[in-house]
Amino acid sequence: MTDRTGSRVAVLISGNGSNLQAILDACADGTIANARVVGVVSNRRKAYGLVRAEKAGVEQVYFPLGPFRKAHPGTDRAAYDVALAERVAALSPDLIVLAGWMHILSADFLDAVPCPVLNLHPALPGAFPGTGAIARAFEAARAGKLTHTGVMVHHVIPEIDAGPVVATAEVPIHADDDLEALTARMHAVEHTLLVQAVDLVLNPPQVA
Ligand code: GRF
Repeated sequence: MTDRTGSRVAVLISGNGSNLQAILDACADGTIANARVVGVVSNRRKAYGLVRAEKAGVEQVYFPLGPFRKAHPGTDRAAYDVALAERVAALSPDLIVLAGWMHILSADFLDAVPCPVLNLHPALPGAFPGTGAIARAFEAARAGKLTHTGVMVHHVIPEIDAGPVVATAEVPIHADDDLEALTARMHAVEHTLLVQAVDLVLNPPQVA
């Protein structure tokens, strides 16, 4: 029987999983109150986030697009999204978090999961949707077009890196920054903001 003690969080990743690690740590030390990660799903076999999940004793699910489509010839991308949603739903999550998940999810996925879906994106709302957001902000700053970028956590809608915003944080771009320094600063902000946003959604402040 599904253990319903506390909130159940499923995290979808494709890579290093440093944001997953921030969630795992925050659930363990209570920064995210009364919650635990019940499954980590990756579409890439070599994603280090799967190792982090294993070390934390969390169920790991490898669910790649290519092999799914080979096993189900004639199906379209929506079929993968629905199958993925069913696999994630089997974890009985109260919240799904996309933390460095590099596959665009369709309305078919969103319709088939039983709970809210949050996404972390390394840019401010409306700026630099899609991949390479940090590098594009860095180049824009070099061209004198902006002085800061930022990070957002938002509810997922079918549009890429858009949807109702849960939390944002600005990150300045310094004149002596290189892309590596900016990226490191962005990741540090992401780790804090994502934890705050997950806690806010799972444990909303009670209005008196
Ligand atoms: C983060 O910068 C996230 O915003 C972006 O991909 C990166 C994932 O980093 N979408 P990690 O896998 O959590 O370390």
